[in-house]
Amino acid sequence: MAQEIFDKVEALIQEIQAANPTGKEEIEAFRIQYLGSKNVIKPIFGEIRNIPNERKKEFGQKVNEAKQAAEAKFEALQTSLEQAHAEDLMKGIDLSAPGEPMPVGSHHPVSITMNRIIDIFERIGFTVEEEREIEDDWHNFTAMNTPEDHPARDMQDTYYLKDSTVNLLRTHTSSVQARCMTRQEPPIRIIAPGRVYRNETISARSHCQFHQVEGLYIGEGVSFADMKQTLLYFAQEMYGPDTRIRLRPSYFPFTEPSAEMDVYWGLKDEIDYRITKGTGWLEILGCGMVDPQVLENCGIDSTKYSGFAFGMGIERQAMLKYRISDIRLLFENDVRFLKQFKSAF
Ligand code: PHE
Repeated sequence: MAQEIFDKVEALIQEIQAANPTGKEEIEAFRIQYLGSKNVIKPIFGEIRNIPNERKKEFGQKVNEAKQAAEAKFEALQTSLEQAHAEDLMKGIDLSAPGEPMPVGSHHPVSITMNRIIDIFERIGFTVEEEREIEDDWHNFTAMNTPEDHPARDMQDTYYLKDSTVNLLRTHTSSVQARCMTRQEPPIRIIAPGRVYRNETISARSHCQFHQVEGLYIGEGVSFADMKQTLLYFAQEMYGPDTRIRLRPSYFPFTEPSAEMDVYWGLKDEIDYRITKGTGWLEILGCGMVDPQVLENCGIDSTKYSGFAFGMGIERQAMLKYRISDIRLLFENDVRFLKQFKSAF
């Protein structure tokens, strides 16, 4: 009797090992038959009653063998099913075919130029400050030594916000100087890139919106020579190691003395003549020693601290660098224009 049962289990193991279901459904039927909740192995365990004690252990092992055989078989079947599925998916796919090219965009020339300027100043310890474009009169003008009746306000035609004589669109990034100096103790060493607005007629040379980068360095004993050296470093990083600069006296209400910086562009062709007005020199930024009154306006002790500031238009630098003759091209977002900058740094 016992031997019969043993033979039955052995036959079952043979059966499991020989089984060769194919396809999803047959494999599922196999699972149900041998591993499902009503599988055929379970009732055999019950037969243990009819096995003499000394062979009970052996019997248990044998039945377990059957169960393990079923599990191993099912696992192998499933793996091969997945493989077949993957092979199916790959059918008709040519792995050696070249990929579809992905259309890649490009950075805007103003962004490229702005990032380059930021990078140059970050290397010598300036940190970036970004501030609001909607400013109040105090930060944009009054703190910067330009009271209401000051004629210098006419230099920059201002957009005031509707129903407000206080809020305006900042006309220069110099407003960030006031923001920084009122909240931070010196030493201050920042550059502030951003958009500015002026109510100007749009032409090839000027626009009602453009970008500037402001620089501000306040500390003890900061001198005009420090400013000149910093700006020479900038010009040579931006326009090449042999670039020459010159500082011409100028006027800004918030700096004293003030200067405008030119770089030597050269006079090789007709375009050089036109853009440099025949001098070979190109103005690229305004700068100067921060007026002590501006320091005081912002709560900084002008007997202890001094500093310099500078500001430049980014579009202008981009136009020079890429020889773009019309500023409006920078705001139209014509893809034919923009994609020419794909390989720019
Ligand atoms: N804010 C000036 C302008 O917009 C530039 C400037 C900045 C000049 C800082 C001197 C110092 O023209």
